[in-house]
Amino acid sequence: MNLREEAQALSDELIELRRWFHRHPELSFKEFETGKKIVEILKAHDIEVIEKVAGTGVVGILKGGRPGKVVALRGDIDALPITEINEVSYKSTVEGVMHACGHDSHMTALLGAAMLLSARRDEIPGTVKFIFQPAEEINQGARAMIEAGVLKNPDVDAIYGLHNSPNIPAGRVGVKAGPLMAAVDTTRMKIHGVSGHGAVPHKANDAIVAASSVIMNLQTVVSRKVSAFESAVVTFGTIHGGVANNVISEYVELTGTCRTYNPEVREKLPQLMENIVTSTCEALECRGELSYEFTLPAVINDPEMAAIGREAIVKVLGEEGAVMPELTGGGEDFSLYQQEVPGCFYFLGVRNEALGIVNEWHAQNFNIDESALWVGAAVLAQSAFEYLNR
Ligand code: NI
Repeated sequence: MNLREEAQALSDELIELRRWFHRHPELSFKEFETGKKIVEILKAHDIEVIEKVAGTGVVGILKGGRPGKVVALRGDIDALPITEINEVSYKSTVEGVMHACGHDSHMTALLGAAMLLSARRDEIPGTVKFIFQPAEEINQGARAMIEAGVLKNPDVDAIYGLHNSPNIPAGRVGVKAGPLMAAVDTTRMKIHGVSGHGAVPHKANDAIVAASSVIMNLQTVVSRKVSAFESAVVTFGTIHGGVANNVISEYVELTGTCRTYNPEVREKLPQLMENIVTSTCEALECRGELSYEFTLPAVINDPEMAAIGREAIVKVLGEEGAVMPELTGGGEDFSLYQQEVPGCFYFLGVRNEALGIVNEWHAQNFNIDESALWVGAAVLAQSAFEYLNR
């Protein structure tokens, strides 16, 4: 059998496994039972296991029959504080927690890859590291795993990972060189004015009016200061201020998020925004402060890793299996591994219109076409082979 056939033969087992994870979702850094299950399966396939990495992470190490490079395959394992509304036999059994981003499918595909590679360990010219990462949803897991040393001993040369995509049909995999997912940054703005009677505005400095101007002026950062050939998103998601309908507010606080793909555009945003915040507020006799936190870099695929990855996909699925994915404004902390070693992140198609599986990540009725599981397993395993055989 070739790898594709071996993966297809695992399909039922993988579906059962994914359903177990789906029934037992756990929140970020609380993936205790999830981790135990992963350990159990890795050990059953005679893979060296390091448990409780960064708390709830798990690392598997598979040394091949021949010496060579080290390639890591990464899957995230946490769920979300969302209540599932799907009426399926494998519905979440934990009230208010759901695998609504499909990380159950990622760890299942990664375990499938571990099974496939373990069965062919003599043929592997190098070492494969399986990184089961907690807490992706809160942007903390990858950082914690890297700090715990997952890219060291043995030192990882390159990394592959995947996220499901409800926009790509099951049976296909999105792969591209360059940007794929956005950098995620976090902003907080404080505007201080002087309070007063709502009927006597000239004796006060209205922080609400200043905040309104700031928000509108900030729209020009994207429209006037970012090239038409680049992109950026500047969003404020919360605004709080004021105490009563007839009192002029002395304080407004806003929080927001910024998304970019090009690191050069990203670098410019804090200063551009700060200029507008401070000068707009000053003109209105208020005082504005902006704090801008670089939370996560963009997922930018190394061109050579993407080319190798594309070959792996084509070997498993044929030419039509590898598709060009759309960029997404969502973020992924896989990008932090890519800051350390060359990496490529795939979008595993899980869409199936005939089955009504079309809903977006984090929706209460999010689901995946489970026929994608063996595909994910085969593509990850083949990627390891392709890379190590170079
Ligand atoms: Ni996700």
